[in-house]
Amino acid sequence: MAERWSPNSWRSKPIQQVPVYPDEAALAAAEGQLAGFPPLVFAGEARKLKRALSKVAAGEAFLLQGGDCAESFAEHSADNIRDFFRVFLQMAVVLTFAGGSPVVKVGRIAGQFAKPRSAPNETIGDVELPSYRGDIINDIAFTAEGRIPDPRRQLEAYRQSAATLNLLRAFATGGYANLENVHRWTLGFVKDSPGSGRYRELADRISETLDFMRAIGIDPETHPEMRTTDMFTSHEALLLGYEQAMTRVDSTSGDWYATSGHMLWIGDRTRQPEQAHVEYFRGVKNPIGLKCGPSLTADGLIRLLDILNPENESGRMTLICRFGAEKVGDHLPALIRAVQREGRTVVWSCDPMHGNTIKASNGYKTRPYDLITQELRSFFAVHEAEGTYAGGVHLEMTGKDVTECTGGARAITDIDLADRYHTFCDPRLNAGQALEVAFMLADLVKRERQGKARPRVEAAE
Ligand code: PEP
Ligand code: CO
Repeated sequence: MAERWSPNSWRSKPIQQVPVYPDEAALAAAEGQLAGFPPLVFAGEARKLKRALSKVAAGEAFLLQGGDCAESFAEHSADNIRDFFRVFLQMAVVLTFAGGSPVVKVGRIAGQFAKPRSAPNETIGDVELPSYRGDIINDIAFTAEGRIPDPRRQLEAYRQSAATLNLLRAFATGGYANLENVHRWTLGFVKDSPGSGRYRELADRISETLDFMRAIGIDPETHPEMRTTDMFTSHEALLLGYEQAMTRVDSTSGDWYATSGHMLWIGDRTRQPEQAHVEYFRGVKNPIGLKCGPSLTADGLIRLLDILNPENESGRMTLICRFGAEKVGDHLPALIRAVQREGRTVVWSCDPMHGNTIKASNGYKTRPYDLITQELRSFFAVHEAEGTYAGGVHLEMTGKDVTECTGGARAITDIDLADRYHTFCDPRLNAGQALEVAFMLADLVKRERQGKARPRVEAAE
């Protein structure tokens, strides 16, 4: 019998990656205030996402998840949100067409503020200070004062999330997502890209399809579903005090939901089965993600699925695999086989970012475009070999023309990184690179569809 769960039962467990707030009274006051604020998302929306993900698990849809590594207060603007959403929609259209099936759109946005760190302190020269843990906790400025965790930042993060979500909802339903416009932007990209030859054929086929639809009377003016879309939000639920304050009972079902975002995920550093983060997650009904890195064993994964999804509910679990391009073949097959053997229903998604971070010759943290695409290819190849469905991707990306990942059609070099390296944490694909990834994925998704890859269901004994 599992122990009783409550939104604060995580507090009695060991915890990783937790900031130490010097002023506990101020922390309690901020959390108390948050607990009285309106939810950012509504339980019915989380259930809708879960149903959509359940289609992904069944091989009938594809998950596109992406956004900043870390959102920041300084970069909060309508332009940034719009530019991200625009490229995200373009990617979704390309993938929908390639797979001939729905794409479930989940942003790393409107709440992606708290960051796990590899070390508690950072040293520059002979100064050692606490590490930056994301704008919801402390300041990126390397000063003793800035690095002190400040609970008021949680209120600021909440407000920014609310404003971001408000604009996303307006874009998603107010006409910005019009399919014909989205495709027109993609044609602009194809025209200007040095790699355009590779993308033109697919883009032209989408154009022909839209022309045909218009000719028979199916267009955005007459069909509202062609000018609206569903956009969901997600983030790593790392800062559990904040999450607890945003955890509410849904009056319809009587269940607990995290209302800080539609989908939350557990990071690779905080997935210990007996510890605080897993404890928090097991009690909320949202769809959840679990980052699966090289240290996760097959038994460890099944144990986590037992705790996090004891009823084996479809759409509840998305396994976000992030091994590194060279390591996929060593780690993924064992996890897939264990999941199949135990008859678990999951979405398999590939995060080709976090296992491929390297230091460039000039010291910048970067990710080569070729390693990112190599990990994606290996992920699809392993699923093909195992007879399972590669169901999604998880990307760190922005709508801006930054220079953070090397390579791509514009061949960003180590030297170029200094030009527009704006990330608050890990290097992101820029708008062009992100769309290139979508075109490259289109081939993999199409091949998967043609092979009619469907999850093999093996009954558990
Ligand atoms: C992240 O997604 O930004 C992250 C920190 O990932 P991981 O937990 O997989 O390292
Ligand atoms: Co990251």
